[in-house]
Amino acid sequence: MKACRCSDGSVYVKRDRHVFVVCGGEHCRCAGSKELLDYLKQAPVSGDVDVRIAESRACIGHCAAAPAMVEDGQILRWVSPRRLKIELLRLGITG
Ligand code: FES
Repeated sequence: MKACRCSDGSVYVKRDRHVFVVCGGEHCRCAGSKELLDYLKQAPVSGDVDVRIAESRACIGHCAAAPAMVEDGQILRWVSPRRLKIELLRLGITG
């Protein structure tokens, strides 16, 4: 979280933002992407973090590594719920 003091004396606090896109393609669905999406939606989020969650409508091009997802612009391959839990802890999203 970053705070910036404006010229009028007010303080603007910028929250950390993380964007997750779970692949909604056929291979990833068969490999368990729905479970990842459900986990992300119900995960407890720290109050100072802005988390956006979406599911792609089509394949994101990494079927051989299903289930795949995008985390802040980076592809994650062979994602398991355990690995996703660790990623959320690493990013400070869950505590
Ligand atoms: S179906 Fe998910 S990467 Fe192709």
